[in-house]
Amino acid sequence: MQIPPEYHDREQSYLKHRVLREYLVLWGRKLGSLARRGPVTLWYVDCFAGPWQSQDEELGDTSIHIGLSALEEAGRIWRENGQEVALRAIFVEKDDKAFARLEQYLTKREGAVETTAFHGEFGSHVSSIADMLGDDPAFVFVDPTGFKGVAMDYIRPLLVKRMREVLVNVMFNHINRFKDDSRAFLREQMKAFFGLSEEALEKGLSETELLRTYRTNLKSNCDVSFAADLAVPHPTKRRTWFRLVIGGKHPEVLRVFREVEARVIGGEAASIRTGARDRKTEQETGQMSLLSEQAAPSQDAWYAEANEADRSACIDDLISDLPATGARRYRALWPAVLEERHVTEGELAHAVVAAANAGRLLIEPDKRRRRRARDDDLLSLPGDGA
Ligand SMILES: C[S@@+](CC[C@H](N)C(=O)[O-])C[C@H]1O[C@@H](n2cnc3c(N)ncnc32)[C@H](O)[C@@H]1O
Repeated sequence: MQIPPEYHDREQSYLKHRVLREYLVLWGRKLGSLARRGPVTLWYVDCFAGPWQSQDEELGDTSIHIGLSALEEAGRIWRENGQEVALRAIFVEKDDKAFARLEQYLTKREGAVETTAFHGEFGSHVSSIADMLGDDPAFVFVDPTGFKGVAMDYIRPLLVKRMREVLVNVMFNHINRFKDDSRAFLREQMKAFFGLSEEALEKGLSETELLRTYRTNLKSNCDVSFAADLAVPHPTKRRTWFRLVIGGKHPEVLRVFREVEARVIGGEAASIRTGARDRKTEQETGQMSLLSEQAAPSQDAWYAEANEADRSACIDDLISDLPATGARRYRALWPAVLEERHVTEGELAHAVVAAANAGRLLIEPDKRRRRRARDDDLLSLPGDGA
């Protein structure tokens, strides 16, 4: 896979945009089905819109363009099915120059989405945005440059209604530098970002613990029932750049998110990061790298490592959620596992059958040659009721 040149040296943004696009199209395809029951309006809300670091005159490398085109693609699919879906988008940008470019782009752009741009701090526009959304379904994208001005309290009003989902870019690369800083104003900003009301953010939290704190508070503060995150790696180093957190009201959010993660962070990132390393080698040595993008592995090593570890751990998580007596439906068990683990629901469903074959749990109905667990299956610990 070739990366567009405008993303050279910021391949992490390409991967972020790929996740945004893939998820948003699927979100629109799912929620557009409401049009069968009556008129429906789908909203895309880009709370920190930019454009920012764009290398393309046409802004093709921005969340502005990507959000609009993903929404249009979802709308087109429903139109072809005979269902009319109204599409609307809201953009917020603080910086004067960036806002001028945003406005110019939106004015010139033709398309099926009706757009509104707000100039200024995201926090100061939240109530107007919430009013505009009314009771409609909305996908909210929160992609700040850091943690200032991104209080969880600002996100909440946009998520309280039904059919709302959020994708937050937790700028791990940046937050990691300041998360343990003792300066009072930074402690306050961290508290607001992580949605803490009384206590300050605990110091010394690992990357996993930090993200768990964010997800837990997103759920309790913003009225979302399910939240998971994925790591967008540094283009050439073995460390996280961004963490993208998804939050929503339905477990399906997790199934879709983990599939997008496997496809983009697992699959596409392999050639994207190989290409980034090749270009770096060429810049540093003036020599062509022997490894080419075409020879990239099918799965990126960063994701492969997390996925492999979690494929073996996920079944332990699920078994630990089984009661000592009685059974639980598989559909009640998989969401908690997918929140924590970098596995797809399909991988977990296969692991459940493997665990049953190994005698670690029982599946009812006890079908022969089953390959994966299904939502209605009843799972229990062996020896129960004996
Ligand atoms: C990371 S950039 C956005 C990138 C964009 N979402 C994309 O993917 O193409 C963050 C943007 O938010 C703007 N910004 C920073 N603080 C803000 C605030 N409090 N309210 C609104 N915009 C803000 C910055 O000027 C910048 O353009």
